[in-house]
Amino acid sequence: MNKYVAGISLLLALLAGCSEKQGSGATSESPPDIAAGKALAQTKCAGCHGMDGRGVKDGIPNLAAQVESYLLKAIQTYDHGKRVGSSGDAMNITKELNPDQLRNVLGYYASLQPLPNLANMSAQYSYYDRGEELSKPCAPCHGIGGNPSSAGLPRLAGQHPQYLIKTATRIYQDGASSMPPMHEALTGLSQADLSNIAIYFALNKPQPAPGKTGNPYEGKQFANECIKCHGATGSGDESGTPNLAGQDVKYLSVMIKAYRDKVREHGPMHKALSGLKDREIEKVAVFFAAEQPTQIAFTPPEPIVDLAQKCDRCHSLASPNPEMLAPKLNGQNRNYLIKAMTAYRNGDRESSAMHKVSSILYFDATIEGIATYYSAQAAK
Ligand code: HEC
Ligand code: HEC
Ligand code: HEC
Ligand code: HEC
Repeated sequence: MNKYVAGISLLLALLAGCSEKQGSGATSESPPDIAAGKALAQTKCAGCHGMDGRGVKDGIPNLAAQVESYLLKAIQTYDHGKRVGSSGDAMNITKELNPDQLRNVLGYYASLQPLPNLANMSAQYSYYDRGEELSKPCAPCHGIGGNPSSAGLPRLAGQHPQYLIKTATRIYQDGASSMPPMHEALTGLSQADLSNIAIYFALNKPQPAPGKTGNPYEGKQFANECIKCHGATGSGDESGTPNLAGQDVKYLSVMIKAYRDKVREHGPMHKALSGLKDREIEKVAVFFAAEQPTQIAFTPPEPIVDLAQKCDRCHSLASPNPEMLAPKLNGQNRNYLIKAMTAYRNGDRESSAMHKVSSILYFDATIEGIATYYSAQAAK
């Protein structure tokens, strides 16, 4: 290293003071002692990270060939409590090391060869195809593609995916009052599975209910309050509010009564429903059931491969950007990636760079898809 570069580094270090960046990517230090690092790795880290830098268990990150300055920054974030959860405790061990030892052990892991992929996993990930497959157990009742063929059942096709996820989660988690026995199909589905199903149903064209409806005009007068939230024709853009248009008439009246009687909780709606008599509810159900269902304005998340190109702008750089130390993701452990992305999205792991892309990770299926993609890439 020449004097000029050393001078600049020193100056930068002084300017940085005790800020977050201190120590990360400091070029003025001598190279780490890899042999000493290896000995430390053996006693302190290999139990979890292996000597070859592969996490010994699912969920433990691979460290082999990772960007060295990033590794150091990652340790500092644990120290600063910016990465919380059970994993934070696992990493307490690094507090036993002085800065030189830490640099050596991280230097050791960074100097290792990239790891070959263990499983021959496919990087392919299609929300729609997965949703189609996973929703097969729902079809006997909700119909193939979410359009039921017999009366009395809710149509899930063309429903807002956010609403569907919320409701299905509630049915599953609370064993919900009105519908538990038939929902064994939901047991064992992860949030990612559920979001694939929801995206699949949302993209399918909704068909009118198979049952008979009746005269819609009698119910219109009772729908004045409802359309403020549910849309003039029972189809709205509000992602948390279900579409009612063309929904089964019997299902609608059962549901409306359940909300009125507070069997099903939803505060803001109770006001509109209170005082409605059974007969009026049946008429308003007929009104919405007779409306033509329309496709919702829902843009599915972009394909994983396209998305990954955006991530690669920071994560696949030939040489690390010292101002924004982004780790390599290729070949990383899939469940660790899922854990990390979920933590950014839920605000459990701080990073201004990753916070900006967090909204892309709204659906758990997107997180799963990206993790599947990167874990299947050859590590570099
Ligand atoms: C008891 C198991 C355990 C031990 C021992 C352990 N780690 Fe870890 N380490 C983990 C887990 C689990 C994570 C992931 C934590 C998370 O989700 O944030 C992790 C994360 C890391 C990370 C962050 C990786 C990234 O991609 O952000 C680094 C760096 C690291 N460990 C280095 C070390 C070093 C160096 C040692 C030895 C001094 C060590 N670890 C010892 C379990 C361990
Ligand atoms: C055995 C029949 C049956 C199966 C199988 C079934 N459901 Fe249902 N589902 C129902 C019935 C009946 C209702 C309406 C419940 C009520 O009347 O309270 C319902 C309601 C729902 C709702 C609430 C709809 C709304 O608009 O509020 C969701 C979401 C849902 N089901 C999702 C699923 C998913 C996802 C699957 C497959 C993994 C599934 N169901 C499998 C019968 C079934
Ligand atoms: C303040 C806004 C608001 C008003 C007013 C409102 N709703 Fe709702 N409605 C909602 C929301 C939000 C949900 C979803 C609640 C949940 O998560 O359980 C819902 C759910 C429903 C459902 C369940 C649909 C399904 O697929 O399971 C029916 C039926 C319904 N509303 C009918 C009505 C009727 C009829 C009226 C008028 C008398 C009405 N709503 C007024 C916001 C509203
Ligand atoms: C503007 C640059 C930038 C973009 C774009 C970006 N990231 Fe990151 N990412 C970072 C930085 C910086 C970190 C390290 C943050 C930290 O220390 O926690 C990071 C960390 C991560 C981690 C944690 C890895 C580990 O080893 O702990 C994952 C996973 C991740 N990003 C995924 C993504 C995905 C998926 C995308 C695209 C949707 C993306 N990133 C886009 C800059 C970026």
